[in-house]
Amino acid sequence: MTTEPWLIDELLKIRGLEVDFDGFKAVDGVDVDVKVGEVHFLIGPNGAGKTTVIDCITGMTKPTGGSVLFDETELRGKKENEIVKLGVGRTFQTASVFEALTVEDNLDLAASFRMSTLKLLRRRRGTSETVTKALESTGLEDVRAKPAGTLSHGQKQWLEIGMLLCQDPKLLLLDEPVAGMSPEERTRTGELIRLVAESCTVLCVEHDMDFLRRFADRVTVMDEGKVIKANATVAEVQADERIQEIYIGKGRGIEEVSA
Ligand SMILES: Nc1ncnc2c1ncn2[C@@H]1O[C@H](COP(=O)(O)OP(=O)(O)OP(=O)(O)O)[C@@H](O)[C@H]1O
Ligand SMILES: [Mg+2]
Repeated sequence: MTTEPWLIDELLKIRGLEVDFDGFKAVDGVDVDVKVGEVHFLIGPNGAGKTTVIDCITGMTKPTGGSVLFDETELRGKKENEIVKLGVGRTFQTASVFEALTVEDNLDLAASFRMSTLKLLRRRRGTSETVTKALESTGLEDVRAKPAGTLSHGQKQWLEIGMLLCQDPKLLLLDEPVAGMSPEERTRTGELIRLVAESCTVLCVEHDMDFLRRFADRVTVMDEGKVIKANATVAEVQADERIQEIYIGKGRGIEEVSA
């Protein structure tokens, strides 16, 4: 039996994706390919349709056309919780952690989402291996006993990524993970993303070109609901005059673009 070559190395294959909001095409025939194990960035000016594409992958928004193939499974028509179970995790533009719970309890709760009731009842007290690993990866060991509400903005984002890691995803979708972060926090987030990519594939929406230069494998660029460059390197994106013009025309140069 022969296998289509893309089945081997494309984890996510979006084809002809369309989202029509009452006559307004927010996403208009978008194709995106994300290879297994890569850190793929989706960029584009405000309103380009990036978040809407992410929402279509997670089932939060129902596309009006096209296909979202993940690990050989069509996600269109599936419910959000089914898509999570298949191994897709996502963060939002604003972190959503349980502020009153400690860092460790947030991670523990996230880890329990994928456990059966029987496993939950049988599990031993103390910190599980999954939670210990997530604390280590995110560098949050020192604040494990603190309520999440007392964390800095950066720490909350890392906690949210840690919570997703506890669910052992195959694909992690990050929507502007470094927005509002200091340069040091951005670097730590980039390092965390690279670490995550050792065991999982990452699709990240981000504007910051310096961040892309340091941490992206490949880039897809969108504008006004369409893909204008696919699977490019950061150097190719920066050398593309059309992309420069689009960003400048919308009020900011690509070099200084930050969320
Ligand atoms: N639920 C909705 N109903 C109607 N229009 C919507 C809805 N959600 C998004 N839009 C519109 O669709 C377009 C794409 O929005 P989207 O949020 O996907 O852009 P984005 O690329 O993520 O932008 P940003 O960089 O500002 O986050 C925008 O014009 C937005 O106003
Ligand atoms: Mg957005």
